[in-house]
This record gives sequence, C-alpha cells and structure tokens, in this order.
Amino acid sequence: MTDAPASQFTPRVFSGIQPSGGLTLGNYLGALKRFSEMQNEGRDCIYCMVDLHAITVWQDPDKLRHNTRELTAGFIASGVDPEKSILFNQSAVPEHAQLAWIFNTVARMGWMQRMTQWKDKAGKNAEKASLGLFAYPALMAADILVYHATHVPVGEDQKQHIELTRDVAAKFNHDYGVDFFPMTEPVIEGAATRVMSLRDGSKKMSKSDPSDASRINLTDDADTIAKKIRKAKTDPDALPSEAKGLEDRPEARNLVNIYAAFTNKTVDQVLAEVGGKQFGEFKPMLADLAVAKLSPISTEMARLLDDTAEIDRILARGAEQAREITVPILKKTYEIVGLVGA
Ligand code: TYM
Repeated sequence: MTDAPASQFTPRVFSGIQPSGGLTLGNYLGALKRFSEMQNEGRDCIYCMVDLHAITVWQDPDKLRHNTRELTAGFIASGVDPEKSILFNQSAVPEHAQLAWIFNTVARMGWMQRMTQWKDKAGKNAEKASLGLFAYPALMAADILVYHATHVPVGEDQKQHIELTRDVAAKFNHDYGVDFFPMTEPVIEGAATRVMSLRDGSKKMSKSDPSDASRINLTDDADTIAKKIRKAKTDPDALPSEAKGLEDRPEARNLVNIYAAFTNKTVDQVLAEVGGKQFGEFKPMLADLAVAKLSPISTEMARLLDDTAEIDRILARGAEQAREITVPILKKTYEIVGLVGA
C-alpha cells in the first residue's frame, strides 16, 4: 500500500458497510478482515455503518435498526475495536449528508450515469429508482472526504466509486482553486477482493442473491457452512499446482482464493500445498478452516447483540469522536464555497 504523496494530508483510513441485512463471507474477506488488520497496524481508522446509503432502496424501519446494530456487532466480532478505531453510524454524523449536498453540485450527471453499480441496481427501471440511489456515489465521496481520508479498504466492486471520489475531490479543488481534499487511494488487497457465488463462479457473492446456498452468511452455523462448501459448484479436475492452472476455472479459483485469504497466504503458496488434490479432499479442508475462523465471529455477534444498549452507546461515542473531525472540515468547506455564517 502506498501512502499519498508528500502533502498536508496525514494518512487516515475510512471505510463503510451498508446495514442492508446480513453480512457475507465476501464482506468479511473483502472488507472486515482488512479493517481490523489495518487497525492493528496502528493506523488511524474510521469505520461506518452507512445507513443513509442503505435507504436508497426500501428498508423496513425496524429491520434497518436491527441490521445497523447487527452490523456493528459484526465489526466488533471481526476484530474492530471501538477503543482503537472510530465506529459509528452515518446518520448520526450530519456532516456526511451536508458535504454530500455540496458534492451533488460538483459531480456531473454523466459521471453518475456511468457507474456500473447504478446500472446494475436501477436496471431497466431507472425511472422508478430513487434520486438517492442515483446520487449514492456523491454521498460516498462525502463519507470519505469529510475526514480527508487517504486510504479506503474495499472489495473490488467499489473501485469505480473510489475513482469517482477522486474525480469529485479534483473538480472541487480545481473549481475553487484550493488543495483542500486529498486524492484518496483505494486499498484492494489480499486473495479475496472479489469473492464469488458458491453456485456460479461468474457472479459476485452477494447478500441479495435469491439463493442462500450461493453465499456463506456470518450468522451461519458450523453445519450450514460445511454443507454449503460441500455443495459448492466445482469442476471434475484435480487442483493445479500453480495459479496459472486456475485461469479458466472460476469456481476452483474462488475456493482457492477463499482458502488463501483465510490463511493469509498467496494462491501459489496454497497450491504448493494442495495441488493435485481432488475437491473431495480439498472441500472438507476448506470447510474446517471456514468453520474455525467464522464460528467465533458468529458466537461473539450473538453475544454482543444481547445488549443493544451497549451497542448504541458505542455508536453514540463513535459519532462524537467522528464529529471532532467532520465539523471543522465541513466548516472550512462552507467557507471555501462562500456560504455565509459557516
Ligand atoms: P457494501 O455494503 O455492498 O459492501 C461492504 C464491503 O464489502 C465488500 N464486498 C466484497 N468484497 C469481496 N467479495 C465480495 N463478494 C464482496 N461483497 C461485498 C465491498 O467491496 C465493500 O468494501 N458503497 C459501499 C459502502 C460505502 C463505502 C463508503 C465504502 C458507502 N460509503 C465509503 C467505503 C467508503 C457498499 O455498498 O458496500
């Protein structure tokens, strides 16, 4: 990971996850696991439940409340420590939405129209999609830039949104003749930056896939995890002994990537150990590993969720800490823009 070039911006990590129901293995390996690792490297980390993003598509209010608390428990159970990182929900820090409005005036319609996530989510029915869904990336840019964050750990699918964040920062700096917002770097690292569906190696593992067998949920019990891995789609060949041999085998590659990410090894290191094995032998190894890594997380999530008042206290304290950073940055932004009384 490269730090931003010498500038006035101190390195700061920001990332967020939508509380739109259920964390998957993709969220864990692509994001949560990296979040706690970055925190443990001693970096300045800020992590957010992006509830305002979640409501760009319909959310039942009671479920949204539950999902926000469950997601917070998921962060903590995955190793994000609220004593070390700032952990809060987006709507409790109003500067995100305020800066997003400024960015709505900076970003161009054409930029938003080119976002693949917008095209996927709005589909053929763009006329019926919410205005918030269209403006989603401007709010995401605000999430990041309201902290002057320099590094954003995410899965591969968020890369285009981070590029747009850089475009927004560059246009703002250019239009107002300032060097106020940093050029944020995406951090897309590790063997599992794009975990694929267990049923179809060409599709991303996603909480919105209608088939529950396509994903591992962080709340799945040990038997369910083992069963889903045993039933995962594969091909009839043995595993190759180097990464090149996985090129046209998306399902095999996915399972090896997951194994590599869990063990913090490269794909080649994993294949040096398991090359030549049939899936009948490899799948139980992967299932044991997944259960060993994920069971403590789901147990801890359930324990934390027993005390929602404590979760709410953690979120409230995180929001206070977050505002110590966002209030002065928003104030300065308003001054730059020429808003009187900032
Ligand atoms: P969301 O909530 O869809 O996903 C949260 C994180 O999980 C990663 N992820 C995956 N990684 C690997 N393989 C997968 N199958 C997989 N599925 C999900 C995502 O890449 C992401 O890192 N727009 C964001 C939320 C957001 C945000 C932000 C992120 C809002 N503001 C500011 C970073 C910074 C989203 O919808 O993520």
